[in-house]
Amino acid sequence: MRPVVRAAGRRGAGAPPSEASERVIRAAGRRGAGTVALVGAGPGDPGLMTVRGLELLRRAHVVVYDRLVDPRLLDAAPRARRIFAGKASDHHTLPQERINALLIMHARRGRRVVRLKGGDPFVFGRGGEEADALARAGIPFEVVPGVSSAVAVPAYAGIPLTHRGVASSFAVVTGHEEACKRESSVDWSRLARAVDTLVVLMGVKSLPRIVRELIEHGRPAATPVALVRWGTTNVQETITGTLGDIAALAARARLEPPVVIVIGEVVALRDRLQWFDDNRVPMEVAQ
Ligand SMILES: C[S@@+](CC[C@H](N)C(=O)[O-])C[C@H]1O[C@@H](n2cnc3c(N)ncnc32)[C@H](O)[C@@H]1O
Repeated sequence: MRPVVRAAGRRGAGAPPSEASERVIRAAGRRGAGTVALVGAGPGDPGLMTVRGLELLRRAHVVVYDRLVDPRLLDAAPRARRIFAGKASDHHTLPQERINALLIMHARRGRRVVRLKGGDPFVFGRGGEEADALARAGIPFEVVPGVSSAVAVPAYAGIPLTHRGVASSFAVVTGHEEACKRESSVDWSRLARAVDTLVVLMGVKSLPRIVRELIEHGRPAATPVALVRWGTTNVQETITGTLGDIAALAARARLEPPVVIVIGEVVALRDRLQWFDDNRVPMEVAQ
């Protein structure tokens, strides 16, 4: 078993935590602390969970899990207390600070806590903030990477992110920007032509703005695009089009999150490489 690293109580970069979370963090002493594992649950198909993640789940006293986590994974922790932390794009069941405080409180009570997060905890999962809160509180923690939807969902849609002679680079970006923000924090003008394949998470609601930015900054309107909803699960659905027409196609289908957007010539390979949509069940499960 890997040793759990005791975190140094150093201050990290970024926005200062609120007074409330500072109070929780200060109140959390070091003696008698349990442990917290920030575990990536993978993108949906429970078969994509890591061996290490399962091992920690089996030993957990408390599991704090997100909306995109397949509930079947919780069966691996039958005796653990389960706490739903929620999180949809516009609706947070528990505020982040409350989640941080929960992790710290249970660890302080000597419990083995698993914080189970969709995909990979450090890819747009606020896992860094949770790790930072734990580090500040002196709680021993470890991070178990997960299979990110950014790579797994395109794979289940038959889209390789790189392909010899077609694409030699890719970038993963967020499409989620606060509506009140005048300017995007993603530099679409540079991204438009800097990488071959663009993978956009949390972008379905901003799709019209994203395609407009990319076309304005030099990406041809004929560039292939795929929208993959609930990828890797048995309700996976995929819409394909081009930068020029994908926003209208998504609106017509009334597409809702969670969706991974893939933009680039690699999307055309799906015509030959599609393997999952038709079957709906991964091959080894079907046998
Ligand atoms: C808050 S981000 C978390 C990403 C996660 N940490 C990861 O590595 O996959 C949530 C977004 O991931 C994408 N996503 C996660 N699971 C997905 C799935 N099964 N199908 C499609 N998109 C998914 C969607 O864009 C969703 O809005």
